[in-house]
Formats: sequence, structure tokens, C-alpha cells
Amino acid sequence: LSKVRLATAADVPLDSLHRVDTDELAICLVRTGDGNFYCIQDQCTHENASLSDGYLTGTEVECPLHSSSFDVITGSVSGLPAQIPLRTFPVDIEDGDVFAEIETS
Ligand code: FES
Repeated sequence: LSKVRLATAADVPLDSLHRVDTDELAICLVRTGDGNFYCIQDQCTHENASLSDGYLTGTEVECPLHSSSFDVITGSVSGLPAQIPLRTFPVDIEDGDVFAEIETS
């Protein structure tokens, strides 16, 4: 596992999606309206779209390309055409900074 700093927590607005490119892969930092942070792979599992360009409603992200939707907490598919769940990554808040634990291959 490598721990990657993603953002300063206070700088991330509620109900927002942010792409962060790491050495391993592009990830999407999600902040839901209740203030919690989640981390998912940025690329849609259907085709090549960046979920950080999509739409967040509650804990569901909708892909901007063909409108698949996914639960940002579990990564599970909640709307077709995608069928493969997203990878999710544990998030830690330390001293006001947001970190994700990314599995190194
Ligand atoms: S690329 Fe995301 S739904 Fe098709």
C-alpha cells in the first residue's frame, strides 16, 4: 500500500468530485454533502470516461458519458450500462489532510 496525500480537507467543497493522478492510477476524491470523504477509481468501468467529470447525487456518482451510476462508498453499480464495480480506496484524515491508501501492484 502506498499512502497518497490528496487534498487539504478544508479546501474540498461539499458535494464535489476531484480527479487526482497518482503514480498508480487516476483516482476520484469524493466529498459527499454530509462532509464525508470517499475515494474511487476515476475511470468508469464501462468505457473511457472520467467519473470526476460526472455528477454526484447523495452517495451516487453518474458517469458523464453513458450515465452509468455507482455507489461511491462500496463501488457497486447502481445503474447500467456498466456492470463491473469500481475499485474503492480507504481514506484517512490526518492533521486536516486527506490521504488515500492505494494498492501498489
Ligand atoms: S463510459 Fe461510463 S457509462 Fe459508458
